[in-house]
Amino acid sequence: MTMLFDSKLPDVGTTIFTVMSRRAVEENALNIGQGFPDYPIDPRLGHALLEVVEEGRNQYAPMEGVMELREQIARKLHTSYARAFDPATEITVTCGATESVYDAIQAVIGVGDEAIVFDPAYDVYDPAVRLAGGRCIRIPLTPPTFHFDWDRVRKALTDHTRLIIINSPQNPSCSVASRTDLDSLAALIRDRPITVLSDEVYEHVLYDGRQHASVLTHDELRPRSFAVFSFGKTLHATGWRTGYCVAPAELTRELRKIHQFNTFSIVAPLQHAIARYLREFPDAWQGLAPFFQAKRDLLSGLLQGSGFEPVPGAGTYFQLVDYGALSQSNDLDFADRLIREAKIATIPLSPFYAAPPAMTLLRLCIAKQDETLRAAADHLTRFAARL
Ligand SMILES: Cc1ncc(COP(=O)(O)O)c(C=O)c1O
Repeated sequence: MTMLFDSKLPDVGTTIFTVMSRRAVEENALNIGQGFPDYPIDPRLGHALLEVVEEGRNQYAPMEGVMELREQIARKLHTSYARAFDPATEITVTCGATESVYDAIQAVIGVGDEAIVFDPAYDVYDPAVRLAGGRCIRIPLTPPTFHFDWDRVRKALTDHTRLIIINSPQNPSCSVASRTDLDSLAALIRDRPITVLSDEVYEHVLYDGRQHASVLTHDELRPRSFAVFSFGKTLHATGWRTGYCVAPAELTRELRKIHQFNTFSIVAPLQHAIARYLREFPDAWQGLAPFFQAKRDLLSGLLQGSGFEPVPGAGTYFQLVDYGALSQSNDLDFADRLIREAKIATIPLSPFYAAPPAMTLLRLCIAKQDETLRAAADHLTRFAARL
């Protein structure tokens, strides 16, 4: 049958995450590519969910999010960033951070507008900008440091630039933005009508004592920023699809207009359960950095000398490895070979770039049980030894 309408995203296929996970199933390979924990959530969070369902908190939540949850988010933000946020006007609960990103982009971008995005970019930004009628100007972060080139950003600014999307700690490069980066960004957009969308879902996963530089703590950026967060990441519960957006009242008002007609409101029992859990265990998320740092160190230690060189990362629950000492094949081919021959699925980096630089990097997810990480290192080490 002929197509009845024009595709809005004609070149969008299946994401690299789906492709690699499907290949992992086909080849019966260990999947250490896709970013989700393979260990259980805190049972106390599960109990809180059972309790609220039994108490009958099963009907529509308010559009903005359950107030108790927004209050807990405000308290948590105060603990993290020593700033006050109004739960009534500045915090909105959404379907994962993904919905916050989508809503913020729809709120800001119109036909012909431009959004600046940094490659390797998480894959939800570009399609959302295009669906809004805009286009992404993609600026590469170059391996191995993946540092921002602010001069290049300055040259990319035009009269159509409406949004700059940053992500720190950054998936998939594992780099983080510094306070100086935020200062540079603020200086660049000072006299321009440009909003910032700051994806901070890995806010608590920074290594070696680094501190997260949130736009929420930057006095010049905060009034023009949407900051997005994810309980999926913070509570090891990616399937709960609960995230939130923090933004000044005027920006939040516009975001909620989109949210209202997009998902309207988020699963009520999940919101009540998270609120209860955070009230009863307000420090539950505090140990995330050492928890993941131990996993990073375990995997890096096991891979030393294997030929898969761990690239020192600053944050996120991923670890990059460089296979350049073993092969110069492109990363898509090499990742597929690993699935077939080493029975392990990883994520190649080039699909996250509009114009990939020459590199031999793969992303591994370290949000896995220690046994899984040991098995992954074993698969990789044995494969490398056979080459
Ligand atoms: C950088 C980044 N942003 C946003 C998300 C989406 O978060 P959520 O699962 O809460 O929608 C992810 C998930 O992997 C991510 O890595």
